[in-house]
Amino acid sequence: MNLLFKISCGLFVLCAKAGKEESGCIINTFLQQTAVPETFSITVNKRNFSHDLVEQSGECVVAILSTETDFETIKRFGMQSGRSVDKFDGIDFKTTSIGIKVPYIKGIMGYFALKVLKTVDMGTHTMFVLSTVENKAFVESGDALTYDYYQNFIKPKPEIKTIERTEKWVCKICGYIHEGPLPPDFICPLCKHPASDFEKVQ
Ligand SMILES: Cc1cc2nc3c(=O)[nH]c(=O)nc-3n(C[C@H](O)[C@H](O)[C@H](O)COP(=O)(O)O)c2cc1C
Repeated sequence: MNLLFKISCGLFVLCAKAGKEESGCIINTFLQQTAVPETFSITVNKRNFSHDLVEQSGECVVAILSTETDFETIKRFGMQSGRSVDKFDGIDFKTTSIGIKVPYIKGIMGYFALKVLKTVDMGTHTMFVLSTVENKAFVESGDALTYDYYQNFIKPKPEIKTIERTEKWVCKICGYIHEGPLPPDFICPLCKHPASDFEKVQ
């Protein structure tokens, strides 16, 4: 059992824009810090395009995902970079009061529009401390998506036959599983650690 997946946390889409550039990425690090004033934190990998956009603009939007979320949404926002694709291409979106797009698709329960109060350098990541500018619900009810629910019910399970035939590599840092041969320049799509941090699953 990977205990990292058992830490109770939600999954969210972080959206950001700086000038004409915009992106969004899946995060599991959105946490409320104080109620009055309403403040939050997110921790974002410095290699993520979204990180640079939040850092440059001092603003972002965090959308809350529900258990209705399709794996396609996780793939769109969490497994490719906005440096090479327009993640809002081909999907409905709303533009928030701070001018940042937020996906308006199945699984998005609503969003917080936020401004950066301070940053903490965490080495590989930056923690942004945020305060609310606006929040808006898209749905009246629903269950928030947790990391545990995602692992158990949304992330596709590899077929048994595939498991038997295909070699698998597990990231020792975050538990991500790569199937098939591991290229030497492989970078973990979740935590961005290199191939040297993977070990073969026996
Ligand atoms: C389930 C899941 C959780 C993730 N959590 C985080 C996170 O908390 N922080 C982070 O920086 N990246 C996280 N990621 C990785 C980013 O979403 C991913 O690297 C994304 O492709 C970055 O896109 P960008 O370069 O357009 O910003 C997560 C990905 C997945 C699939």
